[in-house]
Amino acid sequence: MAPARAGRSDHPRSSSMFYEIPSNLSAELAELDGYIADFRQGRLDAAALKAHRVPFGCYEQRRDGTFMVRIRTTGGALSPHQLGTIARISARYGASSLHVTTRQEFQIHDLSLEDVTTVMRELLAVGLASRGGGGNTVRNIMVSPEAGIGLDEVFDPSPHAFALTSRLISEGDSWLLPRKLKIAFSNSPADTGLAQFNDIGFIARIRDGVSGFRVYVAGGMGGKPEVGHLLHDFVPASDVYLIAEAVKRLFDKHGNRKKRNAARLRFLWNSAGEAGFRDLYAAELEALRTEGRPPLLVEDFSVEGLAPDIAPLSVGSSDFVEWKNRFVSAQRQAGLYSVLVPLFLGNVRNEDALRLADFLEPFGPQTIRATFGQNLRLRNIPEAYLGNVWSVLSGIGGLSRAPAMLANAVSCTGADTCQLGICLSKGALTATLDTLGKSDLPLDTVPDFRLHVSGCPNTCGQHLLADLGFFGNAGSKGQRMYPAYAVVAGARLADGQARFARQVARVSAHDVPSFARDVMALWIERKAAHASFADYIDNGGEGDMRTIAERYREIPDFRDDRSYYVDWGASEPFSLAGRGSGECAAGLFDLIELDLKAAARLRDGESGGDLTEGARLQRLAFLASRALLITRGVQTPSDASVFEAFRQHFLQSDLISPRFGEVVNAAERRDEAALLRLTSVVSELLSAVESLYQSMDNSLRFPAESSQDRARSAG
Ligand code: HEM
Ligand code: SF4
Repeated sequence: MAPARAGRSDHPRSSSMFYEIPSNLSAELAELDGYIADFRQGRLDAAALKAHRVPFGCYEQRRDGTFMVRIRTTGGALSPHQLGTIARISARYGASSLHVTTRQEFQIHDLSLEDVTTVMRELLAVGLASRGGGGNTVRNIMVSPEAGIGLDEVFDPSPHAFALTSRLISEGDSWLLPRKLKIAFSNSPADTGLAQFNDIGFIARIRDGVSGFRVYVAGGMGGKPEVGHLLHDFVPASDVYLIAEAVKRLFDKHGNRKKRNAARLRFLWNSAGEAGFRDLYAAELEALRTEGRPPLLVEDFSVEGLAPDIAPLSVGSSDFVEWKNRFVSAQRQAGLYSVLVPLFLGNVRNEDALRLADFLEPFGPQTIRATFGQNLRLRNIPEAYLGNVWSVLSGIGGLSRAPAMLANAVSCTGADTCQLGICLSKGALTATLDTLGKSDLPLDTVPDFRLHVSGCPNTCGQHLLADLGFFGNAGSKGQRMYPAYAVVAGARLADGQARFARQVARVSAHDVPSFARDVMALWIERKAAHASFADYIDNGGEGDMRTIAERYREIPDFRDDRSYYVDWGASEPFSLAGRGSGECAAGLFDLIELDLKAAARLRDGESGGDLTEGARLQRLAFLASRALLITRGVQTPSDASVFEAFRQHFLQSDLISPRFGEVVNAAERRDEAALLRLTSVVSELLSAVESLYQSMDNSLRFPAESSQDRARSAG
């Protein structure tokens, strides 16, 4: 796909459109049509098509032949007209629900390939683009969901985010970056826009009467997560574009294109070193200032008192009062209110979205934002109409009658739809919410508690930002594997104090709901003594977590209690077979590294002292052979079949030299005498596996395979 060329839009922006779409998008969609036709006629293979469709935010779903389109919605802002259009498109071409993501975007699921560009054209007509919903480009720019209305905000950064989106997506060099570039804006030092956890983050400040930002750079989650580094203590708001552009150019020129696993901006910060990075950045900034780029066209999106022409509905029930207490907040604009619409797992049925859109139309274009908790936040509702909102919302989203803490819980999509997933995170979260909801805990006293679940060590469920988080991995008892979660706790988000949640314990998937209930009970009891959950974790809470986990340490045998071995929402016992080759990138690293580290310890004499020399070599060869099988989707039920699978997937395919066949055969026969003769070859086998692992890309492929399949994937 040719990169986008700079240019103003053919699609003039109305006041209900938040960013401007480059004029060449229509031409690019025609090109995408051509690629799809070529694919259908066998002239283009699936991998090549993927390289063209992913930059359009179009991903294949786990169910073959169905596709998802992710729509760019800066700061989650959407007009009612746009929401209605998305819902109609979804009803006509896609799934029965829309999905809201943790980066404030909207997704349409279950599309057929033939309909994808039609959908994109219909979106374009209302000022929405999916271009950049995937691929190595500037991704959706996030903004604090309360920006513009928050009582404690410094000022509203949304107009800067909208203008920056328009500018960056109009520039050709934004589309072929080494990896994705994520940008976020916060409206206050609470950093609710997660500026410190993105590649570039802006936090609103005012200095000497001038509006501006503190700027962070090179933060992010995913592989080797890092909190952003302070780049500028203060810059005037008029410099936002120059700074973002300088970082983008620096990334474009110096980012590591060869190693996808080490391509994100934070790796550049580490490889260049802080001083080196700052020098490179200063040079780009200087060059840009000399070029004299025009500043952003920052428009005023503020609302003026809207008086919808509908009759206010007065409601006095206790349910209404409870709902108001939970989900309605006063805005900084006197007389206006914002309302959280809790969506269960980020899903809203098309007909509900349509009903909401129709209802909101008279309240103006500035009424909807998506939140990081995968909910919607309505804004600019005059007090007299809260009864109307209540009546429209009842039944939408499924959580309107639950405490806000449950509504804010987040899960990634998990192993039922994600090929990298280990555990069924949505199932675990559903069971946990159910347990918490049925408990008699006063959860309304902890409305802002952040509970996050990811189905594997990748951070799509943002567990690193949680008060209490879980990420999926696997445990084993005897020959059986069971689904399990690592427990993380105590993230801090505020400006200058940011840190990720740290691992504090491990529990089986089965016990996640009970564990979470016990933690919440204790926290509610202890919270008066601590300023935050993170403070509690630092002052005794971490120990409490371990004590609670201890209650759940015993895993019954499979024959005594099968339920520990069947994941939430599954019917069959847990298995990793079929996992491992994802649309997005790599995963399962933890499991691979467990084997490789155990093997290295045996090689280096740090473990295995209780084994005979021959048994130590046998175990080493076994771990080396097993480590990468998972990348082929193989989960081996018995030790013996590890060697057969290794032979088939690695030796016969030449990924590992066939000369190791002799060692593998000896290890399979448990022929200790032969292994002793081959001692150095056993170590070499481990080295060969380690270096193959190092060369693996994010799609779990090795260079020999990648050269046959040049198409890049994007997460
Ligand atoms: C099949 C594989 C994957 C799927 C289906 C998937 C899905 C998603 C989705 C839907 C989101 C919300 C995204 C958005 O709105 O842009 C997300 C976020 C995220 N994903 Fe993934 N993902 C996958 C693989 C990965 C991998 C391999 C990594 C890391 C190595 C990763 C790291 C993240 C992170 C850090 C976020 C949070 C984004 C942010 O707030 O910056 N994902 N993922
Ligand atoms: S890669 Fe892991 S964290 Fe991301 S969606 Fe899949 S299971 Fe969830």
